[in-house]
Amino acid sequence: MIKKDEFDSIIEPLLDIEEFHELESIEHHGITRYNHSLRVAYYTYVVTKLLHLNYKEATEAALLHDFFTDEVDDENGVFKLRRHPGYAVKNASKYLDLSPLQEDIIKTHMFPVTFTPPKYIESWVVDIADDVASIYERSYSTRRQLSAAGVFLFLVVVNFFRIR
Ligand SMILES: [Fe+2]
Ligand SMILES: [Fe+2]
Repeated sequence: MIKKDEFDSIIEPLLDIEEFHELESIEHHGITRYNHSLRVAYYTYVVTKLLHLNYKEATEAALLHDFFTDEVDDENGVFKLRRHPGYAVKNASKYLDLSPLQEDIIKTHMFPVTFTPPKYIESWVVDIADDVASIYERSYSTRRQLSAAGVFLFLVVVNFFRIR
């Protein structure tokens, strides 16, 4: 059964990692990379639990799948997309003794942008959860921008008629 308490108890030890909190100030798909990571971890927890997979290891790895900060600043779009899983593995392994499953999850979460396909079902779940979260977050931020533009236009029109 899906339990929010269980999800919290899996991720809480990792939320003590100070370096991980740097993601709170990095923009990612229109939200913070920290919140994106939490969302992917939660989707992963729900799906892997329902499918009776290794939900604990999968949820931990999902939380750390985008654990990179400024390593990719100098790289262009495609390199950034391809290289950040490697940086995330390096950073995650400083704090967590990654199992082969967890390393595969982080390394392959950008497949097919990166070329090596996931080896485990859990890795496929995280790959898809990341895509679903990204689509949701991008559309959310677009909707927010559109509504901000709508409010701005409304104020321009109101002021225009007031001046006249
Ligand atoms: Fe990523
Ligand atoms: Fe991601």
